Amino acid sequence: KHKESYAAWLQYTKIDDQAIADKYAQWCRNLTVLGDSAVMESAKKELIQGISSMLGILPDSCSEPQQSGLVLAVKDSIGDLIDVDFNYLHDDGYSIKTVTSGQNNTIFIVGKKDKGVLYGTFHLLRLMQNRKNLKQLDIIENPKNQLRMLNQWDNMDGSIERGYAGNSIFYKDNQFTQEHNRIEDYARLIASVGINGIAINNVNVHQEETNLITSTLLLKVAEVAGIFRAYGITTFLSVNYASTIQIGNLTTADPLNSEVQEWWKEKAEEIYSYIPDFGGFLVKADSEHRPGPFTYGRNHADGANMLAEALQPFNGIVLWRCFVYNCLQDWRDRSTDRARAAYDHFKPLDGQFHSNVILQIKNGPMDFQVREGVSPLFGAMEKTNQMLEFQVTQEYTGQQRHLCYLVPQWKEILDFDTYAKGKGSEVKKVVDGSLFQNRYCGITAVSNIGNDYNWTGHTLAQANLYGFGRLTWNPDLSAESITDEWIGQTFGDDQSVKELVSKMLLKSWSIYEKYTSPLGVGWMVNPHHHYGPNVDGYEYDVWGTYHFADWEGIGVDRTVKTGTGYTSQYFKENADMYESLETCPDELLLFFHHVPYTHKLKSGVTVIQHIYNTHFEGVDEAEDLVETWLQLKDRIDQERFDDILNKLQEQANHSKEWRDIINTYFYRKSGIKDELNRKIYL
Ligand code: GCU
Repeated sequence: KHKESYAAWLQYTKIDDQAIADKYAQWCRNLTVLGDSAVMESAKKELIQGISSMLGILPDSCSEPQQSGLVLAVKDSIGDLIDVDFNYLHDDGYSIKTVTSGQNNTIFIVGKKDKGVLYGTFHLLRLMQNRKNLKQLDIIENPKNQLRMLNQWDNMDGSIERGYAGNSIFYKDNQFTQEHNRIEDYARLIASVGINGIAINNVNVHQEETNLITSTLLLKVAEVAGIFRAYGITTFLSVNYASTIQIGNLTTADPLNSEVQEWWKEKAEEIYSYIPDFGGFLVKADSEHRPGPFTYGRNHADGANMLAEALQPFNGIVLWRCFVYNCLQDWRDRSTDRARAAYDHFKPLDGQFHSNVILQIKNGPMDFQVREGVSPLFGAMEKTNQMLEFQVTQEYTGQQRHLCYLVPQWKEILDFDTYAKGKGSEVKKVVDGSLFQNRYCGITAVSNIGNDYNWTGHTLAQANLYGFGRLTWNPDLSAESITDEWIGQTFGDDQSVKELVSKMLLKSWSIYEKYTSPLGVGWMVNPHHHYGPNVDGYEYDVWGTYHFADWEGIGVDRTVKTGTGYTSQYFKENADMYESLETCPDELLLFFHHVPYTHKLKSGVTVIQHIYNTHFEGVDEAEDLVETWLQLKDRIDQERFDDILNKLQEQANHSKEWRDIINTYFYRKSGIKDELNRKIYL
């Protein structure tokens, strides 16, 4: 039971097509692993599992290459078996080559280091799961991003902040779980898409988790780190900025205090004695009531650098989050704009951060909405390492009860041109370090997994985790190709499954956007848990997340001319585009401008008519998702078919709640009727 749901995209389903199976078998009867390490061992284990499951044969393990077979090797062990130009390979890169000469017929997977071999192994298995031809492989792959990370928002009591797939696989009742097999399977899943770092506890570090850096718990952290290490994944911890007070017997956490500095240096040394390759600290400071350097009149560079100095001797790094804003705002005050906050705090500090600090910046200036502008901080700090943070867990995008495939959204963000160094300065080039030659850089995200048998609550939400990893490896992959790969591995190579599921996934973000908050204005959700419609849920609250709808119009004026001046934080090309009503793109109109309901969009319809239209369409399309899925009955195993069907039906129902609440709200505010006279409740 749960076999397929649990295996996610590592199904390794038996290959029924005998011709293909026979072809694959010529390379899969024996396996030679040249080199010896935990990571090589993982690669070998995975191949044996994949091959035996897909082909029903157990490859012989050989100590040297046979006439035909599979060979895994690293730079130091390949000798002159084949020619690989290692100058083209990064540390995590690999080459896969099919070599045929006379009787010889071998596939080589060669990495510069063992991690490359593991990634190459997963690549080969991906090809086999998608039934690709292996006859003439000549592949060279390097990851575009250096750090490819996940953040677990797991608490030690077993809960997960913004988790929608059960409880933590790491912790339960304030202890570590003993679910090492499950953690290993998670490591396999994420390593298979190239993830190489993980922070294993929530950025909100409460009492219990503050103790993760004390000796009793470090032993346990080291065990988990050992599991991840075998899959090339480095372990990080989120730390409490005020640890010196909480667990250090000091009365201050002032970053310029020498006792504080000393305490962290000793702490770092202690941590590294347990975990020699520990990654470093993830820090949420002076953000949403978390402690930070502001208490002592110091800035974020002071705080981050103090930790960076402690980690420096061990090559550790500090991932310092930029999610800093006033969360006790007064809704009456229209001059304070939460969107401005990160830039206002951090931009003036450019050049002051140590080289082993990375600023971790959310994709947008607000908070992972279905649509918002791209954070203007990207590219704005030439002398500072920057890392992009996405949210795979669907906090504001349907909480894994609604289908919302986020790869198309992430692609748009990565491809957004910041103009930091003129045209062609896309976000992806800022965060891969190529634009400003940064020492550290990359992409991270809040994970969407829990201990549900299918990992992600909604089985189709597995695609978000998969797609995130693939994009961190290579942001230039198209959404379509990532989607195809995922479906092939998850559901097999049935053409109609591929076509229909791909259509569903690729449309789902747009569908979700249609029936929820319109034109980039965001929120309109129930406070605290953030599920379901509540147009004024946050309107008179302290969080700085307002839409300002009145009887005449709606939207946040963030222009320089009449609003909060936020548009000026972008480089000129974008600042001009957003500042002007004429050039501001429709989908972000209400993020940047306050307009009358009768304002005409570029699409030709008025704002109010757009709201009505999209909300009716969104529900129709959510219903179509159910219809489409029903066509796949008998093409997908019963459990996953039923699970997904239930979720899609729930979504279709709940989308009506959204539609009716939003339409009625705006009809009541504006008094303007739907031109098409559809049902709006009074
Ligand atoms: C959001 C989310 C919080 C989280 C915060 C963060 O506001 O609702 O639960 O702690 O982001 O990213 O730190």
